[in-house]
Amino acid sequence: MDSGKQLTGTLAIAVFTAALGSLQYGYSLGVINAPQKVIEKHYGHSLGVWSERTTVLSENSTEDEELPEAGQHPAVVMYWSLSVAIFSIGGMLSSFLVGFVGDLKGRVKGMLMINFLAVVAGLLMGLCKMWKPHIMVISGRAVMGFYCGLTSGLVPMYIGEIAPKAYRGALGTLHQLAIVTGILISQVIGLDFILGNDGMWPLLLGLSGAPAVLQTILLPLCPESPRYLYIVLGKEQEARNSLYRLRGPYDATADVEEMRREKEEADKEARISILSLIRSSVYRQQLIVALMMHFSQQFSGINAIFYYSTSIFARAGVGQPVYATIGMGAINTVFTMVSVALVDKTGRRTLILAGLGGMCFCAVAMTVGLRFQNDYSWMSYVSMSAIFLFVSFFEIGPGPIPWFIVAELFSQGPRPAAIALAGCCNWTSNFIIGMTFPYIQGLLDVYVFILFAGLLLCFTVFTYLRVPETKGKTFEEIAAVFQKGKKKLAEAPKDHAELEQLKTSTDA
Ligand code: GLC
Repeated sequence: MDSGKQLTGTLAIAVFTAALGSLQYGYSLGVINAPQKVIEKHYGHSLGVWSERTTVLSENSTEDEELPEAGQHPAVVMYWSLSVAIFSIGGMLSSFLVGFVGDLKGRVKGMLMINFLAVVAGLLMGLCKMWKPHIMVISGRAVMGFYCGLTSGLVPMYIGEIAPKAYRGALGTLHQLAIVTGILISQVIGLDFILGNDGMWPLLLGLSGAPAVLQTILLPLCPESPRYLYIVLGKEQEARNSLYRLRGPYDATADVEEMRREKEEADKEARISILSLIRSSVYRQQLIVALMMHFSQQFSGINAIFYYSTSIFARAGVGQPVYATIGMGAINTVFTMVSVALVDKTGRRTLILAGLGGMCFCAVAMTVGLRFQNDYSWMSYVSMSAIFLFVSFFEIGPGPIPWFIVAELFSQGPRPAAIALAGCCNWTSNFIIGMTFPYIQGLLDVYVFILFAGLLLCFTVFTYLRVPETKGKTFEEIAAVFQKGKKKLAEAPKDHAELEQLKTSTDA
């Protein structure tokens, strides 16, 4: 029987359960957009700076006079911006702890332990009307961000470690699929006639804690990562049992042998902390690639589109921008599925290259569309199509792959530290884009996407020159590609003979 190729029910449950954490992350990313105006109004009330139209109308104002919106009051603007931004700050801080939490009691118990954070966050937001909504929401978003920083590292780590080699890409991409599904769900139920209204918005925010409850029920059914059991704890028999549960009855010799070699390597060196990983020259190439992958995912401008899509669509002349945003969420989900289907056949490198190159082209097309939309009315279709295509190209490669490729690039010793650093890079970049985009847009106006086009071109060239293919390789083989290091990084060893030769030359 082919050892590494079995997809069993237990594996499916384990991946599904882990991905509930990613769903929660996506939901929290998307949920804050649609109900912005409604929430601002409540902040205004609770701060005492805004009241209903009837009470504010001054004696000389007329019925038709436009009153300022709650969101224009400086205090409301400040508290609102904080509600959005504190999520990323929470994530930035906690992403450093991913390795610690994952190694403390294992990946499964780690995910279980942190769920209480998600539930507390959900309750703070869901019950926010009981006290000062702005304080409750900001606290809830901070705790939720902290939770998401941990989950966005733990989930890919666990899935990467339990997936059979042949399906590592497809299963790893499910993390992103769950993220985009979470974004889409929050966009749909955030519509004003569903939950994005005066009465229901606390429930809309509070529901972000719901997947944690389901995950808590399912996690005890999930086997611990065999790599954690064997390589970190040295429990070979338990690791074998876990492999049998995940893969069904099969000959585990090759898998155990691979873990044994990796354990030997890991035992030779001291535990690799974040600081020693940064200092180490052995892992420098992997680290640069891992960080660049996350940096390019964020500085591709994807979240500029996601956070500000409604205003971008309005600018591009779309009548119902909210629905265009939901359409974008749907396309986003469909193309992530395309990536799930392709990633283990086409390979990571090809998909990232195609994705980044395509996004670069779309960013140019968006600029042309925005620049000439007043001269030619059909140009708004150019901008619209370019936005949809931009998102599609993102989901084919640059969206999902960075999340799981870090676990592939590093062996067990440095893996937790590497995931922590890459996660921190992702959250920090996300925060920077979220905070600065409106200002950059103000500065560059219709040319704002040219900036991203330039960056995307650089990222495409970097990927072409420095990112090796990891598809179908064991963790050991991938590490060997990097040890070849200073030579030609873009080329992975073509066959086993070359790999063996490479290993001998590295040992020498
Ligand atoms: C990736 C990014 C996230 C983005 C999402 C959009 O998961 O990390 O920041 O919002 O893709 O699909």
